[in-house]
Amino acid sequence: MSDTKSDGKCPFTATSHVDGISLLSAESRACPYAAYSQIRAEDPVHFLPDQNIWMVSRYDDVDFVLSNPEKFTSKEALSSGNAFRDFPEALDILSRSKAIPRQRTLILADPPVQTFHRKVVQRALAPGKTLRAFGPTIEERVNGFIDRFVDAGQFECVSQFSIPLPMALVSMIFDVDEEQVYRMKGWSDNFFAALTGHVAKQTVIDAAVDTLVFEEFVLERMQKARTEGSDCFIGKLLDQPEDEPPLTDAEVINICSQVLVGGNESTINFISNLVHTIATTDGLENRLRENPELIPNFLEESLRHETPLQAMYRITLEPVQIGGVDLPAGAKLMLNFGSANRDETHYVSGEDFDLDRDNRETLHLAFGRGIHACAGQTIARREGMIALKVLLHRLKNLRLADDVQPEPAPLFGVRGFKTLNIAFDVNAT
Ligand code: HEM
Repeated sequence: MSDTKSDGKCPFTATSHVDGISLLSAESRACPYAAYSQIRAEDPVHFLPDQNIWMVSRYDDVDFVLSNPEKFTSKEALSSGNAFRDFPEALDILSRSKAIPRQRTLILADPPVQTFHRKVVQRALAPGKTLRAFGPTIEERVNGFIDRFVDAGQFECVSQFSIPLPMALVSMIFDVDEEQVYRMKGWSDNFFAALTGHVAKQTVIDAAVDTLVFEEFVLERMQKARTEGSDCFIGKLLDQPEDEPPLTDAEVINICSQVLVGGNESTINFISNLVHTIATTDGLENRLRENPELIPNFLEESLRHETPLQAMYRITLEPVQIGGVDLPAGAKLMLNFGSANRDETHYVSGEDFDLDRDNRETLHLAFGRGIHACAGQTIARREGMIALKVLLHRLKNLRLADDVQPEPAPLFGVRGFKTLNIAFDVNAT
């Protein structure tokens, strides 16, 4: 599919030499794909000195790491910068936590601990049930968001559409009202920023303070659920079958924090990326409207082409060879999903968005794979479906607004937008 409407797109140009590449440079942050392509071609398991990390860039190598968790630990492996540890003030704040000893859960844990938490979360989140219960309400809410700007001919997609949608779902999962859910969004922003690393000291300190506030929030809700009973996610986490050990307070807090961040940040960027692609790709909007059966593949192609969470991290537990490179135990790895998802050995013209690409041939890695594969992927896909269904029904001729250029998401390893102004035809329905 051509994308001549490609105003505001990432220009794809090769840079000089792979050794000089920094993914932290302003150029790479704005558009990392030229750097990824060069790394894949010249040095696919490449050491990035400024992050002290090995970037694994090819699909098969990322798949290998994800599929062999006994060789690669997720403990200590989440951020590329491990932001809290770099700032004693933040550690001092965290030392006041009531959730001590801190406990590693899910994305920060290995089996058998992770296996146990995952089972508990799958039961409490119950994606199928959650969506049956909340799907229709979400659709109503999405219509409500659009009502607020439908007569204006323009909207700021991130704040008026992409953020409110997952927040609506989070408010239902945690059973909180709108005011509380926006406090949660603030916490989630700071947690996520601190986890991605390479952020200002004040952000990390704010994240430490918010960690304690969040703990209080979860502990209060646990107390309430224990005394009054509750059907929300926290209540369900406490409602363990008799033959399984109950979760500790620290486990409940950490699981809630991971579901809050997971449920929010990547989904926001996913939704913005969908809208951006429609607004900048000739003919796509009409094709999707006329052929709604193409929407599921559009979601997959968007997740592949503009992977919202570009990377996750692991540490080698033993000496291991990846892509022909010998690595010692203790080597830190950045699994670059954004690069793997454009790997030319799996995707013909992988740099191009192509609605007709058969994404079943090689399933993208945007949700990871293996034991840590995203626990919310069914929910995220349904949110995308609902967003598009309502958007395409209500708004016509979506395009970038002339007056304000899109601003990319500022955090390292994230592909999405900070602001995205979209124009459309008023009264076109
Ligand atoms: C488009 C949106 C999303 C993207 C791109 C995404 C991406 C990912 C990725 C790549 C992982 C694997 C991490 C690893 O291997 O280290 C993951 C794990 C996870 N995600 Fe998502 N996610 C999204 C939406 C969600 C939603 C909506 C929820 C919850 C409601 C969620 C909850 C989780 C949890 C709990 C894990 C940890 C699973 C484990 O470690 O066992 N995610 N996600």
